[in-house]
Amino acid sequence: MLDNYERKINYLRISVTDRCNLRCRYCMPEEGIENLGHSNILSLEQIARFIRVAAQHGIRKVRLTGGEPLVRKNITKLIQMISQIHEIEDISMTTNGVLFPPMAEALKAAGLTRVNFSLDSLQDDQFNYITRRGHLTDVVTAIEKALQIGLSPVKINMVVMRGINEQEILDFVQLAYDRPLHVRFIEFMPIGELPFFQQQRLMSVNEVKDIIDTSYELIPGQVVRGSGPAKCYNIKNGKGTIGFISPMSHYFCAECNRIRLTADGKLRGCLFSNHEIDLKGAFNSPSSEEKLAELFKQAIFEKPQRHHLSEGWGMDNKRKMYQIGG
Ligand code: 5AD
Ligand code: SF4
Repeated sequence: MLDNYERKINYLRISVTDRCNLRCRYCMPEEGIENLGHSNILSLEQIARFIRVAAQHGIRKVRLTGGEPLVRKNITKLIQMISQIHEIEDISMTTNGVLFPPMAEALKAAGLTRVNFSLDSLQDDQFNYITRRGHLTDVVTAIEKALQIGLSPVKINMVVMRGINEQEILDFVQLAYDRPLHVRFIEFMPIGELPFFQQQRLMSVNEVKDIIDTSYELIPGQVVRGSGPAKCYNIKNGKGTIGFISPMSHYFCAECNRIRLTADGKLRGCLFSNHEIDLKGAFNSPSSEEKLAELFKQAIFEKPQRHHLSEGWGMDNKRKMYQIGG
């Protein structure tokens, strides 16, 4: 389906829970989080029903996010249900990886095609500082496991923050040089745990690229499946690739192909717009499939043209990242 700005919407990102087993400083406060109650979140069956409807109207790719998607009970069963929808060609997940290793094979068998790991440091103490409770070895094990069972491409998302992890940029490039991994550097955005967001922590992808150019030769143009807004490069003689995601310094809204569903059943056309369409009532209506289709189309028609982040918009976002799904 095309939206009002001629963008083809074929990608649905679903936040399956607002809960997380980590507490990344830029994402969540340490304590005092009010999670959605069980009665407020969509059931797995409802999520699958909605995807079936969305697939009738052009959705071909689904990504599961959170919070942390692997803390949602029976997530493997949801993947199984989604993989039975013929129109859906790609089922991916963005995870912090902590719970991934013992679940990996079952996730793949259920139909998960690929996985992105969020990883902001390769140093144990720094990783633990950023996540407040995580251990680097768990994520490293998860990444190895994903490579081993062939969930390809395996991507790693690093949010670059000056003064926090910018001295590790070259270590991440080296990782993609040594292993067939796709490392993506993401600009820090003013959304989430706003007290942690400070203007001086923001580093543009141009700055990141300048640092990399001092030590590696990047070759532009490599297209990695599902790379969306990332600008991708090969590393000369390296096994993996590097990508840059620049929501702050470059607009990619004109190519945006996505729509989002929150755990409590709201459709969002844009991560950075408060406009939401509530699906919940539609599930119980007698003609619910038609009603869901109508709301899906409405969300696409009302998808905003662009975000207004650099004008300080993030400051009045009603939801945090873990409540939308990154
Ligand atoms: N800026 C940039 N990326 C963020 N993420 C969460 N909060 C922010 C932010 N403020 C990232 C996570 C993860 C993905 C879901 O979104 O690190 O990779
Ligand atoms: Fe959890 Fe991801 Fe937020 Fe970290 S960034 S607290 S892993 S949802």
